Amino acid sequence: MQNESSIVVVLGTGGTIAGAASEVTDNVGYVAAQRGVAQLLAAVPALAGAPIEAEQIAQLDSKDMTHAVWHTLALRCAHHLARPEVAGIVITHGTDTLEETAWFLQRTLAPARPIVLAAAMRPATALQADGPQNLLDAVTVARTPGARGVTALLAGRLHAAADVRKVHPYRLDAFASGDAGPLGVVEEGVLRRFREWPCEPSLVGAAQLPADAGAWPAVEIVTSHAGASGAIVAALCAAGTRGIVVAATGNGSVHERLERALAAAQDAGVSVWRSTRCLDGRIIDSGDTAFPSAGALTPTKARIELMLRLMAAPSAAQAARSS
Ligand code: SIN
Repeated sequence: MQNESSIVVVLGTGGTIAGAASEVTDNVGYVAAQRGVAQLLAAVPALAGAPIEAEQIAQLDSKDMTHAVWHTLALRCAHHLARPEVAGIVITHGTDTLEETAWFLQRTLAPARPIVLAAAMRPATALQADGPQNLLDAVTVARTPGARGVTALLAGRLHAAADVRKVHPYRLDAFASGDAGPLGVVEEGVLRRFREWPCEPSLVGAAQLPADAGAWPAVEIVTSHAGASGAIVAALCAAGTRGIVVAATGNGSVHERLERALAAAQDAGVSVWRSTRCLDGRIIDSGDTAFPSAGALTPTKARIELMLRLMAAPSAAQAARSS
């Protein structure tokens, strides 16, 4: 029998952290999602004998992440969080869509205990693999008394779900938290925290997510750019898209042709939100815009937010009011 809240549950989903290459010097020509979560844990001697449970949820390259996997992940997290003996959860994940999974879990679970996503930029076969240290540091956070919310741990830095974003395709320290900065750092097995834990509430509880992930509201992203035509918006509407997030230029401006197409979509009942394609910062509303702004959310996180809002309040008008 373990002490109360002493177990860390590690859920495997794949990614480069579980990837393998044929040469130890190859950090790009590998195949993601080749090692099971138990193998990843076995590569961290400091975790030997620790109260850890491992469970393989999926085994994929996170570019191929699906709503169905998110659904399973949310339900398994909810299951383990309901166990008093569990201190926290670590999820091994690919880096490419890590920030999306983090935001989805924060907005479905709003966990009062920690869920820490751990990833790596180099495969498990690399001469200097970063996965084992990131996994160890993530377990440190998951065991930290008082820890809560969904976070991501890479290169010694802890990022909150709302802020984390991948900013580099290759270097080890590939993640940033924009204007907010990291939530903390893990140094020699100790978390040094700079600010409060994530506390955004749940929009749709894991148990309320429609069982058929194919029936979740279709929300797509379009980008405003020089020469934009708006043709893609008509195609999306014809395909039954319920919501569109426009990755707008600068402080939320949209090419006039795309704006006309989006306005027509909105008139037809599609929810249209603006986010900015700028790498940092947030849209500062001027008050006269046709489309609600997604605030500080990046286009990919705004897409998740709008999808969940449409689940919670199915009409476009309701979804816009609650934004
Ligand atoms: C993935 O996202 O699954 C592959 C890339 C990575 O983890 O760095």
